[in-house]
Amino acid sequence: MPLRRRLLALVALVLALCLVGGGVLTYLYGLRKINLEMSSAIEVASTAVSDALSDFGSNAPEDSQVQRIISSFDGDRHIVARLIAPDGTVVSASRLEKPKDPPPNWLYSLLSGEPRSRNFGLPPGSKKPGTIEISADPHNEVGEVWEDLQLKFLIVASFCVVVLGLIYATLGRALRPLEQLSSALERVGEGDYTAHVSETGPEDLKLIYQAFNRMADRLRSAEQQNQRLNEQLLTVQEEERSEIARDLHDEIGPFLFATDVDAQAIPLLVSRNASNDILDRGKAIRQSVQHMQIHLRAILSRLRPALLIDQGLSIAVEQLVAFWKARRPNITFTTDIEDTRFSPSIEEVVFRILQEGTSNAVRHGEPRAIGLTVRQTADGKLKVLVSDDGSGIAVKGSRGFGLAGMRERVTSLDGQVRIADREEGKGVILIVEIPLPPTRNKKNNHQSLTTSAA
Ligand SMILES: Nc1ncnc2c1ncn2[C@@H]1O[C@H](COP(=O)(O)OP(=O)(O)OP(=O)(O)O)[C@@H](O)[C@H]1O
Ligand SMILES: [Mg+2]
Repeated sequence: MPLRRRLLALVALVLALCLVGGGVLTYLYGLRKINLEMSSAIEVASTAVSDALSDFGSNAPEDSQVQRIISSFDGDRHIVARLIAPDGTVVSASRLEKPKDPPPNWLYSLLSGEPRSRNFGLPPGSKKPGTIEISADPHNEVGEVWEDLQLKFLIVASFCVVVLGLIYATLGRALRPLEQLSSALERVGEGDYTAHVSETGPEDLKLIYQAFNRMADRLRSAEQQNQRLNEQLLTVQEEERSEIARDLHDEIGPFLFATDVDAQAIPLLVSRNASNDILDRGKAIRQSVQHMQIHLRAILSRLRPALLIDQGLSIAVEQLVAFWKARRPNITFTTDIEDTRFSPSIEEVVFRILQEGTSNAVRHGEPRAIGLTVRQTADGKLKVLVSDDGSGIAVKGSRGFGLAGMRERVTSLDGQVRIADREEGKGVILIVEIPLPPTRNKKNNHQSLTTSAA
């Protein structure tokens, strides 16, 4: 059930209970009042009848005198006087004043109570013997309670209607922004992060709307970054594929061709018995194969750095340096790599940092020297440094993903990344610190080598 309807039902229930409570109180009050009124009316009427009869003394009253006593009650609101013959028939009766708004039967039977009456015998010697009966009739009193009840009900019912109407309208106004929020949440759930709510309304709800809008903005920018990363990934994959194709073509292709030429020549040389030439061709084939092996390993290491890292960080870094030396022979590389083994996740992150740091230095700085350092510090951290003497950081706030990806990797290990222009001399220094797990804080821990490293 919606909140608005639930609150309304609750308030209506409370008002209905008040109405019932008020009805019960009015009923009890009416019952007491009618009892009192009827008792006192009977008392007063009895006194009047007995006084009238005692006026006759020992004389027998005339019929007309008896009739006067009966008719003296004409128009009374509570008492009916009747002259009753000895055989029980009603000879005459006074006229009760009719209530203006006769009460319904159910209310009359609820409030009328026990019938009250008194009988007075006519003095002996009367022409027509009989009795005068005085009885209380509560119709008028119940009618008054009925009028009272109707008025109270009308007042309380109008109050209920006004209160419920006001609550309905106020809740509608107060909840309208929440409806807006729920439809905005639905849109966000369906992936539409442009959904926003207007930041108006009560102060506490305003805070929720502001938080929602911030969340939607963040989700939108995260989605946009994701999209950019995907596009970047596709471009990088495409670049990598064409680079590998070029490498295979340029580095492997000619040597395969040379090997084929050498291999084809061997049968001819055998038929000529030119053993020295055959040895030369064999050597040439071996050289070609060795060359192809080196290049194949370089390509494989780029495709699967984990393979490289399995052999230890220093070997992986050697391969990395060899890769760049082959492409930038004029850059001098210096390395200082910790010989300790760390968990595969840390080693991979460290290798990726060195890879991206070196690539950035070569691509953006055009340096003459690059230094790569991986060292444990005394306070149980692994410090990774990539420094160069290039042009320094020219464009700040680039939309590249290398450093962002690096930060994500390092943050997942609770580490920190800093990159800045070097204070001494020119170039850039990249400093990464990764806290080592307590068991890995000791130096020369070679226990958890992967199978291939073992
Ligand atoms: N060693 C460096 N020398 C000079 N500028 C650098 C160096 N390292 C980073 N930068 C600057 O920082 C920017 C951000 O580097 P980042 O690796 O995040 O992106 P990118 O290299 O431009 O692109 P991507 O890595 O996504 O291919 C670079 O564009 C460059 O301007
Ligand atoms: Mg980069």
